[in-house]
Amino acid sequence: MERLAASECPALTTRRKRREEQTGASHDPIVWVEAEGANVIDADGNRYVDLTSGFGVAFVGHRHPEVVAAAKHQADRLLHALGDLHPSDVKIELLERLCALAPWPQARAMLSLSGADAVTAALKTAVMATGKTGVVAFEGSYHGLTYGPLAVSGYAERFRQPFQAQLQSDVHFAAWPGRDVSIDVTLQTLPQDWSHIGAVIIEPIQGRAGVRLPPPGFVEALKAACEKNGALLIADEIFTGLGRCGAWWRSVDEGVVPDVICVGKALGGGLPVSACVASEDVMRAWGTPDREAIHTGTFYGDPLGSAAALATIALIEREQLVQRAIERGDAFADALRAEPLRGVLEVRHAGMMLGLQLHSPMQALSVARALLERGYLVLPAGTKADVLQLAPPVMMSDAQRDGFVSSLRDVLEGR
Ligand SMILES: Cc1ncc(COP(=O)(O)O)c(C=O)c1O
Repeated sequence: MERLAASECPALTTRRKRREEQTGASHDPIVWVEAEGANVIDADGNRYVDLTSGFGVAFVGHRHPEVVAAAKHQADRLLHALGDLHPSDVKIELLERLCALAPWPQARAMLSLSGADAVTAALKTAVMATGKTGVVAFEGSYHGLTYGPLAVSGYAERFRQPFQAQLQSDVHFAAWPGRDVSIDVTLQTLPQDWSHIGAVIIEPIQGRAGVRLPPPGFVEALKAACEKNGALLIADEIFTGLGRCGAWWRSVDEGVVPDVICVGKALGGGLPVSACVASEDVMRAWGTPDREAIHTGTFYGDPLGSAAALATIALIEREQLVQRAIERGDAFADALRAEPLRGVLEVRHAGMMLGLQLHSPMQALSVARALLERGYLVLPAGTKADVLQLAPPVMMSDAQRDGFVSSLRDVLEGR
C-alpha cells in the first residue's frame, strides 16, 4: 500500500483517506494477482467472489479458458498490425461479427479500446450524419471520462467542473424518469429548440448511477422525439449489452432500434475492446469522397483484443448466456427478495445487473467493506452513492450466490 500511495495518482490516495475518515475503518484495496470464473485471489492468497465482474467486464467469467486459448493462439501469430491501413484477419472477422449482431440489416462498425472511445466515435458519427453538434444527455448518465464522453455524462457535476472550459458546451441534460419523475415530465425537460441537436445519448439502464431502470416506453418515446427532430438515438450499451441485462441489446429488447450502439466492457472477455456500431445509412456520412479517414487510433482493432472478442461472442452464443442471464438474474433477485433484508429499500434488476437501494452513502460504503472482509466484492454506486451494484459473472454458481446473500444478511443484521 505504501508503494501504491507513493506512485498512483493522488486522487485515489485521497479517496481512500476520505473513506477511512468517514467510516473509521481501513479502505486499503486488495491487490489482485489471479482470477478465474467468479473468483479473485489477492496478493495474500485470499479468495473472493467477484460480484462486480471487474466493472462489468467478466460477464463470461474471469479468464474463461476459451478466451484465454484464443488470446494465446493469437499471441503466437500476430500481436499488432497496421490497423486501418493493413488490418489483421481477426479484425475483419470481428467487424463482420459485430455487424451481424447489430439490429440493422446492413451495419458498419468502428473498433476501439475503451468504452469512452466507443462513445467518442458515436458522438462523432452523429455529427457526421446530421451536421449538428448539440447533444441531449441525461442527469445521472455515465459515458466515460475522456472529453467527449465527459461532456455528456450527467453523473456528477464535480467530474466535469474543473474541465468545463475544455468541454463541448452544447449539451442539454434532461431529467431521468423514475419513481418520482414520470415519462411525461421527463419529456418536458427535453430541449424546446432542436435545430442544433444531432444526438440523444442514453444508457438503456443507468448503471453507475445506481441501476436505474427507466419505465417501459421511455426509450421508445425518445426514439420518436429523435425521429421528429432529425437527431440520432445513441444507445450506450457498454454496460447493458451483450447479455448482461438479459438481451444482446437492452434498447432493442425495449422495442426500439436505436441509430447507433456503443459496446465495450464484456466484449473482450477481459481484454480492452470496444466498438461503435451503426446502420450503413448512418455510417455512410464518414465515407463521402472528400473526406479523409479522420477518426482512428494506433491500437484500434488490435489482433489480441479482436481474437478475444470473437471467442467471447462465440461463447455467449453457444452457451446461450443471454438466456442464462435472464434465468440467473431472476433467481438472484428472488434470493435477495425471499426475506426482507434489513436496511434495503428496494432490489432492482434486469438480467445480471442488480442494484440494492440502501439508506445512505455511509451505509453503502460500510456494507461494501464488510462484505469484502467476508470475501465478496461489490461496488457502491448511485448518484448519491447509496446503492450496492451487483454485476456478477453469468456463471456464478448457486453456492457462490447463496453464500453472498447469507453474508449480506449477516452484515445488514450487524452479525
Ligand atoms: C454505460 C457506460 N458507458 C461508458 C463507460 C466508460 O467505459 P470506459 O471506462 O471503458 O471508458 C462506462 C464505464 O463504466 C459505462 O458504464
